[in-house]
Amino acid sequence: MLDVTPIGSVLAEHYDLAPSVDLAEDTRDIYARMSRVVTPADWAMFAPYVIAINKLKKERGAVILAHNYMTPEIYHGIADFMGDSLQLAIRATEVEQDVIVQCGVHFMAETSKILNPQKTVLIPDMEAGCSLAESITAAGIEDMRAKFPGAPVVSYVNTTAEVKAASDVCCTSSNALQIVEAMDSDTVIMTPDQYLAQNVAKQSSKKIVYWAGSCIVHEMYTAEEIRAYRENDPEIRIVAHPECTPDVVAEADFTGSTSAMINWVKRNKPAKTLLVTECSMASNIADELPEVEFTKSCNMCPFMKKITLEKVLYSLHTMTQEVTVDPAVAEKARASVQRMIDLSAAAENA
Ligand code: 13P
Ligand code: SF4
Repeated sequence: MLDVTPIGSVLAEHYDLAPSVDLAEDTRDIYARMSRVVTPADWAMFAPYVIAINKLKKERGAVILAHNYMTPEIYHGIADFMGDSLQLAIRATEVEQDVIVQCGVHFMAETSKILNPQKTVLIPDMEAGCSLAESITAAGIEDMRAKFPGAPVVSYVNTTAEVKAASDVCCTSSNALQIVEAMDSDTVIMTPDQYLAQNVAKQSSKKIVYWAGSCIVHEMYTAEEIRAYRENDPEIRIVAHPECTPDVVAEADFTGSTSAMINWVKRNKPAKTLLVTECSMASNIADELPEVEFTKSCNMCPFMKKITLEKVLYSLHTMTQEVTVDPAVAEKARASVQRMIDLSAAAENA
């Protein structure tokens, strides 16, 4: 486990990180992207870190890839590229810099490493896991293959490199249906998210069998809760992630990946919306959409929230928390991820 105690003292020897109203003023253009959700006092604390990280990342030849669930000071303050899992994976194949700092969870950093074995991939906290990735091992994939002989295995990218290597192809929340439909088989095994699998099954012509994993953030929402929001305010637009249960998805006006959710809200600009997903999603687009009121009901992903400005600065300063993948495993995992990227691109161009 990353011991957070010495981080502050190590950083204090090299950087002046005291809250600063002057630095906050110098970075007001960045702050303008989050002024609805971050107070000026908080920004005075964040600004010294943001300035130090942006300077250091140039010195280290690093690029910062950030998931849509990162907090606003990371998302708007230091990220070079923000997106959903598929966008981050594709972007990882295009990175010119030698160092990738993944502001997201471990499976995302592993995917970047799988796609870029020659690059240094850092994650600011190795403990940033995922309940889905933890729910299945390569042995679980083999069990599913034994139960459903001949059926291809489509594994969500929210899995370890070993699981990806044991699968036929990966998928993300934005292309799961396309990938399943592209399989040359009437029966398809989906792992490890039971709800994503059930949601895909509702739209697919295939028989889908699945592993019983779930996301601890999205499975907390209930259909009754969503209905209560709508009864309270019939104008509200409900936007959900496909890791939610099918009952919740059935109540939503739109369901899609994190980036698809953002795009839907940007396109439709509802007067009021409830984003049925992780808390930072609404925070990250609140300033860009002043006309939209975001209902403040969200669930926090404890894994995503392990990534902080302090840990990013420490990781870049020490060049530590490097993600490595056994080359033999990486080669097989790369085939599954690359097949997903290729099938996804083919479906987009069809
Ligand atoms: P997206 O691919 O939609 O960004 O989802 C990743 C994730 O972990 C959602 O919980
Ligand atoms: Fe995993 Fe859920 Fe957190 Fe996404 S939100 S990283 S699926 S636990």
